[in-house]
Amino acid sequence: MTDEQELSYHLETRAIVAGRSANGRSLSTPLWATTTYESATIEEGRRLATTPRVTEFYSRYGNPTVRAFEEALAALEGAEAAQAFGSGMGAVSSSVLAMCSQGDHIVAQSQLYSATSLLFQMVCPRFGIDVTYVDATDSEGFAAAVQPGRTRLIFVETPANPVMQLVDLEAVGAIPGPIKVVDSTFAGPMIQRPLAHGFDLVVHSATKSLAGHNDATLGVVAGAEDLIQWIWSYHTIHGAVASPFDALNGLRGIRTLGVRIRQQSESALRLAEALDGHEGVLRVNYPGLESHPQRDLAKRQMDMGGGMLSFDLAGGLEAGRRFVESVHLAHVATSLGGTETLMTHPASTTAANLPDEDREMMGIGEGLVRVSVGLEHPDDIIADVMQALAASGAGS
Ligand SMILES: Cc1ncc(COP(=O)(O)O)c(C=O)c1O
Repeated sequence: MTDEQELSYHLETRAIVAGRSANGRSLSTPLWATTTYESATIEEGRRLATTPRVTEFYSRYGNPTVRAFEEALAALEGAEAAQAFGSGMGAVSSSVLAMCSQGDHIVAQSQLYSATSLLFQMVCPRFGIDVTYVDATDSEGFAAAVQPGRTRLIFVETPANPVMQLVDLEAVGAIPGPIKVVDSTFAGPMIQRPLAHGFDLVVHSATKSLAGHNDATLGVVAGAEDLIQWIWSYHTIHGAVASPFDALNGLRGIRTLGVRIRQQSESALRLAEALDGHEGVLRVNYPGLESHPQRDLAKRQMDMGGGMLSFDLAGGLEAGRRFVESVHLAHVATSLGGTETLMTHPASTTAANLPDEDREMMGIGEGLVRVSVGLEHPDDIIADVMQALAASGAGS
């Protein structure tokens, strides 16, 4: 199938037809569980060793099953190419460190996934890379923070983990000069396509909704061929490569992404509406809710609200503790985007390593609960949350 034909299809169809280059005559993609490949001659060996993004030389350089996953994701993002990694953080840190050198400057969003925050706060300074932080909602602040000739990268995440602030993709995508990178994990390609707004690279933790079954640790970055080739070169040295088995699970997840995201968005909206205005809940953070402070922006750049939401319980830490200990159907576990509904208490888990002032700046209060809505029936999810709310004593 030609790329043009593939790109003429709706996203749900692209998710089915793309990424079949490793199939041969097999309908489903085979698992190429190999580390190395034979070459018939010295000349062939030399050609393979010097070919960028080669898939049949040595599996740290590339692998046919991994390439199929990369092709499928690139087709969904409307990108020329994609590079897979062994985790979302592999994709985030390699994208940043492949692009930046000593003396460079980065403009980063203040509210980021905690490990990404640590990359900017602890690793970048060690390599002489300066970072300026801008609030997600301050669109003009991103442009104002750019130092012409010195700012190499702008890095944002939208919706942001875990309070669901949005970044205006159109406004930031239009900033001339730096390479614009977005972590789109919380929305994914069925909901928003950042490259169409002027972003250069879109990163995902494919561990989440792309693979979608809590059984693969995987990351990916998509963009123009030259940038992806540059990141690939760095990744062969850095070594955070994707396993073929995880890539196969990632590809299988992509095949059903459309229906999963639609159902999770529908269920999450129903849950958010049920929580909004509840006496035990101070605030619900969900971009699909009319009460979301950036609802107009959500309508402009997101096709659906997605499966992630968070809410603040009246009663702080104690209410949060009682709530997560009272859910029956949902699992109290970190991660997101899978078939099971998961709950986390960010202040004591993913954000536990952050300084108090950073947690406060990100809006992570002690009573904050994050929910990744799964594929159970929405009535059962809502009933479980409501009984846990009652048990938490929040608002009483
Ligand atoms: C928004 C976001 N980006 C990146 C990551 C890192 O992904 P991984 O755990 O696959 O390294 C996560 C993990 O939770 C995340 O939520």
